[in-house]
Amino acid sequence: MKLKGSILIFLLGVTGIGLFWRADILSYFTLLAKRPCACDRCLSEGDSLFEQRFSKFDEPFLSVNYNLSEDNFNWWKSLQGRGQILSAYRETVERLFQLVPASAHVEASSPNRCRTCAVVGNSGNLMKSHYGPLIDFQDVVIRINRGQTKGYEADVGNKTTHRVMYPESAADLDNTTRLVLFPFKIKDLDWVTNVFSTGPSGRKSNFKFNKDLVMILNPAFMRYVHDVWLQKKGFYPSTGFMTVVLALHICDEVHVFGFGADSDGNWSHYWTKLMNKNLKTGPHPGGEEYKMIVELAKHQILKFYTGW
Ligand code: C5P
Repeated sequence: MKLKGSILIFLLGVTGIGLFWRADILSYFTLLAKRPCACDRCLSEGDSLFEQRFSKFDEPFLSVNYNLSEDNFNWWKSLQGRGQILSAYRETVERLFQLVPASAHVEASSPNRCRTCAVVGNSGNLMKSHYGPLIDFQDVVIRINRGQTKGYEADVGNKTTHRVMYPESAADLDNTTRLVLFPFKIKDLDWVTNVFSTGPSGRKSNFKFNKDLVMILNPAFMRYVHDVWLQKKGFYPSTGFMTVVLALHICDEVHVFGFGADSDGNWSHYWTKLMNKNLKTGPHPGGEEYKMIVELAKHQILKFYTGW
């Protein structure tokens, strides 16, 4: 009798544990499936600063059907393109999308994947940093303007999946690197089309990039970065800071390298000696941008590597 009682208690115990365990496992997997990504921490998982600032911008890239508002166009043309008119912008964009993909390729977020990205600015603080392997370890490596790799592999790596640039900062790209065009005026949008058309001399432009891998930053996104992230400070955001905010839109985990002025407050580069000692941070609010990156790092929204 005593034995039967013990067996009954044992069986009830085992069944109870089994039921609880199953419920736990089920809720664990339900939670996992609800997470936006598979990283330890996903960008959109609540943080007060993040929620406050990161009202996500829906279309960071231009697409064939995107309609830039007149208000945003007027803000954009005040940067470098005074005297331009909206109808000319629209015609240029229409021509451009006859050549490049109708929408930019961005890998979608998924609970099964952790999209890690390195944003590599051009600061001299990369010198002797030995960040190369860490940069190359990320899925996406975004370099900016003329950021070099040859001869600097130990400090900056050699992988480039995306290159942010505009005509004045353009360099040749290999066939697998995505060109992320930051247009500051209508001529910049025309530049892409012109590279692939035969000019009056009968020759195509010398620049090399794969037209099927072109992505174009939305001018309205530039304004959003200036208004929302920098509270309208400075004339307009730097290419590097806009790239950091862009990465926060297309990656689950963002690693930031190569940002920060030298001891004289100048934006010097890691591959060359600075000639213009009065460069400072140009028309950009470099100090504010740096403070924001530091704050984002403090809130673990991104990882910031400050070099040596
Ligand atoms: O000089 P460049 O514009 O090509 O550099 C790319 C970006 O890297 C800049 O727009 C700026 O945001 C960042 N930068 C920096 N500190 C430097 C040099 C560049 O933060 N010393």
